[in-house]
Amino acid sequence: MSDLPTFSDLRAFLAHCEAGGDLLRITAPVDPRHEMTAVQLLALRQGGPVLRFEGAMPVIGNLFGTRRRVAAGLGVSPGGVGALGEFLAALRAPAPVRGLGDALSRWPQLRAALMTRPATLRRAPVQAERLPGLEAIPVQTPWPGDAGPLITWPVVITRPPDEESLSAYNLGVYRAQVIASDRLILRWLPHRGGAAHHRQWRDRPMPVALALGCDPALLLSAALPLPENVSEFTFSGVLRGARVEVARATSVPLTIPARAEIVIEGWVHPGETAPEGPFGDHTGYYNAAEPFPVMRVSAITCRRDPLYLSTVTGRPPDEPSVIGEVFNDLALPVIRAQIPEICDLYLPPAACSYRMAVVQIDKRYPGQARRVMLALWGMLAQFSYTKMIVVVDRDIDPRNWDDVLWALATRHDPGRDTVILTDTPMDYLDFASPSAGLAGKIGMDATTKIGTETTRDWGEVMRLDPVHAARAAELLKGLKCV
Ligand SMILES: Cc1cc2nc3c(=O)[nH]c(=O)nc-3n(C[C@H](O)[C@H](O)[C@H](O)COP(=O)(O)O)c2cc1C
Repeated sequence: MSDLPTFSDLRAFLAHCEAGGDLLRITAPVDPRHEMTAVQLLALRQGGPVLRFEGAMPVIGNLFGTRRRVAAGLGVSPGGVGALGEFLAALRAPAPVRGLGDALSRWPQLRAALMTRPATLRRAPVQAERLPGLEAIPVQTPWPGDAGPLITWPVVITRPPDEESLSAYNLGVYRAQVIASDRLILRWLPHRGGAAHHRQWRDRPMPVALALGCDPALLLSAALPLPENVSEFTFSGVLRGARVEVARATSVPLTIPARAEIVIEGWVHPGETAPEGPFGDHTGYYNAAEPFPVMRVSAITCRRDPLYLSTVTGRPPDEPSVIGEVFNDLALPVIRAQIPEICDLYLPPAACSYRMAVVQIDKRYPGQARRVMLALWGMLAQFSYTKMIVVVDRDIDPRNWDDVLWALATRHDPGRDTVILTDTPMDYLDFASPSAGLAGKIGMDATTKIGTETTRDWGEVMRLDPVHAARAAELLKGLKCV
């Protein structure tokens, strides 16, 4: 499955990128207030390298700015993402093993499962040194209207109150606003794993750790919307194909990744909140300030010569939208396992990576496009906030807007082929919704109408004989076009 070396930490991944000419060191001073954002976004838009801003503590940016690097972080080349998705779908629903031969034929799955037991290190590299306070970290203030410095790539580690096993842990990427040398605001949205744990701690202080600069498999596992019963620690071991190395935190009862660059430990006290934001978000707009839990920092440990990993979220394309595109391909086999009628599915990054979906089906019966729309909205939690679904036929490439627009223009009747729902769950960040958290959805059936769906003669798609197309290409070979 894995066709690249395994990266035990961020440094190993950076060394791999640098060896391939895919890392740029910037020695000129760059201001982490706004200026660094401009450099990161320009590099991203050009498909540019990882950036290393040199300084007292170097800042790493644009880490996952290309699909190739996201795939590499998952341990595969870009062409291997689909196969990895198939593998993950098989892991989620393994067929019963039939005898030893069958078990051995599926050895990659078995090996991966064996690799998932974490190893606890007594001397964790991330506990080599301590930092005096959050001001020692060159935290970016990404956008001009932002409320202050924002930690953008933290892996936030939480667990339920009475459960110490790593399988119960949640790791999620939730931005954290720095409000003092020892205070952060944690912005876990209500439906996230971290928020669910927070509710369970109720009137008791909750231990929290933020791991900054983790290895790529752990970073991507924390960003993936994994089911609640799958541990990100375990999952990162499956991706890496090697056991995850962990250690006990120094001042809170939590286990942390041993090879992160920095770990911020602390407590969230019951009822203690502060207004978080405004900050620029992945939608391309600033969020309104809203109360979120405050974390009181009890210790900051780090490696020798630590690196600070940062990113910027904004109107796509941004780093999370590039990651989202790869996750799209990764999730496809899992989605197809649940709704087999789907051939392909695309979440255009420009539509914030989840607010619109284009679905390709192999249409066989009347009403099938509607069934698929309703299945996506009803069965799969990750489509709860998808405002628009367009369903197309097998001959339409959902990633090609010329194809999709042609299908909409020729196979869709707005009166007959549109499904409109009202008062369905919606991302409260969507200010276009009539009420926060409750909004409409639209489904557009742009498939060929068959059977009782139409009484009219349907148009036949014009196609030339491939022999003639080949002859034309031959005749015009070498033609220079102005
Ligand atoms: C760079 C980046 C920043 C993110 N910021 C937030 C955030 O501030 N709050 C949030 O709830 N989710 C944020 N997310 C999305 C979550 O990390 C993601 O949905 C993850 O799957 C949540 O994990 P969970 O389901 O275990 O809670 C961010 C993702 C990335 C990649």
